[in-house]
Amino acid sequence: MDEQEHDHVFDGEGEGSTIDKMRAKQEKKNMKKAKKKAAKISAGGSKADLEDTAAKQKELQEKVRMLVNQLAIREAIQPPPSASSSQKQKDMSSHKFWSTQPVPKHDETIEEDGPIEPDTPYDQIRKEPYVLPKEFEWVTLELNNESELNELYTLLTNNYVEDDDAMFRFDYSGDFLKWALQPPGYLKTWHVGVRVSANKRLVAFVSGIPADIRIYNSHQHLVEINFLCVHKKLRSKRLAPVLIKEITRRSHLQGIFQAVYTAGVVLPKPISKARYYHRSLNPKKLIDTNFSRLPPNTTLSRLIKKFKLPTETSTPGLRSMVEKDVPEIRTLLNEYMSKFNFVPVFKTDDEIKHWILTKDKVIWSFVVEDPETKKLTDFFSFYYLPSSVIGHQVHKTINAVYLFYYAVKESDEKAIKGRLQGLMKDALILAKLKNVDVFNCLDLLENKLFIDDLKFGPGDGFLNYYMYNWRCKGMGSDKVGVVML
Ligand SMILES: CC(C)(COP(=O)(O)OP(=O)(O)OC[C@H]1O[C@@H](n2cnc3c(N)ncnc32)[C@H](O)[C@@H]1OP(=O)(O)O)[C@@H](O)C(=O)NCCC(=O)NCCS
Repeated sequence: MDEQEHDHVFDGEGEGSTIDKMRAKQEKKNMKKAKKKAAKISAGGSKADLEDTAAKQKELQEKVRMLVNQLAIREAIQPPPSASSSQKQKDMSSHKFWSTQPVPKHDETIEEDGPIEPDTPYDQIRKEPYVLPKEFEWVTLELNNESELNELYTLLTNNYVEDDDAMFRFDYSGDFLKWALQPPGYLKTWHVGVRVSANKRLVAFVSGIPADIRIYNSHQHLVEINFLCVHKKLRSKRLAPVLIKEITRRSHLQGIFQAVYTAGVVLPKPISKARYYHRSLNPKKLIDTNFSRLPPNTTLSRLIKKFKLPTETSTPGLRSMVEKDVPEIRTLLNEYMSKFNFVPVFKTDDEIKHWILTKDKVIWSFVVEDPETKKLTDFFSFYYLPSSVIGHQVHKTINAVYLFYYAVKESDEKAIKGRLQGLMKDALILAKLKNVDVFNCLDLLENKLFIDDLKFGPGDGFLNYYMYNWRCKGMGSDKVGVVML
């Protein structure tokens, strides 16, 4: 359930206003000082004095220039946290729904990890669906049926997550939705829709899939909730809480009492908050569509040059992942994940086959095979999720990919950093060859080791991670390994 990640890219070349003003002010001051000094000198100083003072003056000016530049760079790289309303935290009492749910309160101090409420015995679990207003009815979607899949696609493509300015909206393809919603062990009953009874139109949806995760030292088989969506015409009518309660009830019926979910909005209480980063591959299109803006004091051709990439990858042994790689990738990935606090656990090869193996226009995966030993040393994957450009005359779609799971074998930080930079640069090149316009990632896993050097810019979208009916300490995004779609 991610939100608002298509935000305007902040470019490292300067934000303008405040910095420009500071720089002008400082230059004025320097000029004044220099004039005063020059007047003093001309009134009685020697030539040597004059040269010495001029050199000092120059040195000082250079220092000031560098300081101002450093500030400018820092401001451009780390813009102040977005003031977007979605990131504001409401009082617990104003969460009419969430204050009734087993989730930690915002101000709660957490001493011990564990469930907030005990598992509900089967005979006490409600057996009938929650009541909907009489105009609506529940439906369990059959995604193997082309027309039902298409109904879900249409609902989401017109009503799912948009950026704050309503300029872009996710456009998950039908194949992507099948990939996301039908992993090994999936349950059809967790694909929950709401139809208008009179005309059977699909107007709301929420889904769950089974997942195994480790949070700190606790291994859990739980449900991952995603694709919560209510048709635009039915918003703010408290339908979302009914959908959440219904998917919770259906999870309870399967003996599952914990869930993981993400949202752009702040709810009680995130276990972590990650930030979106964007790496431009097609600066012209991103600027034409207002996805990014041209920073002041630069030109489009300079920007194109800045983001230019080689046309060939450089990691020796890099190749597309194939089915025989599955068992080795499972070991590699689970081992790599052991250093983070909140990670998926891939228990079977079938899961890796489903989640990681390339499916064209859905997910692409690449492995590095050591040319001598033939062992796999690394892999990376990215998924394809375009966004509709709302109301644009020329461009209908932005082709975006998102970094998914990866692993490297290196163990010391310097070696990991070097390796990741090489691999991710190759990932950018491969994405560019697939006509992708922007490569996105969150600042989780070890992504901070390559984000700046590979010219990713921070967006103003954030993603909050949550667990339902589980209390534990929060963590930095660099301890999170779960990537949700
Ligand atoms: C998210 C969405 C389903 C919420 O529906 P809505 O009509 O706006 O809100 P409702 O009146 O039905 O319900 C409001 C309650 O849902 C909660 N809610 C809103 N968005 C939520 C989310 N993403 N996850 C969980 N709860 C959410 C609200 O906090 C509120 O509960 P509270 O009073 O306890 O705070 C709807 O806005 C939507 O479809 N948006 C576009 C898609 C989207 O953003 N999906 C979520 C992706 S994370």
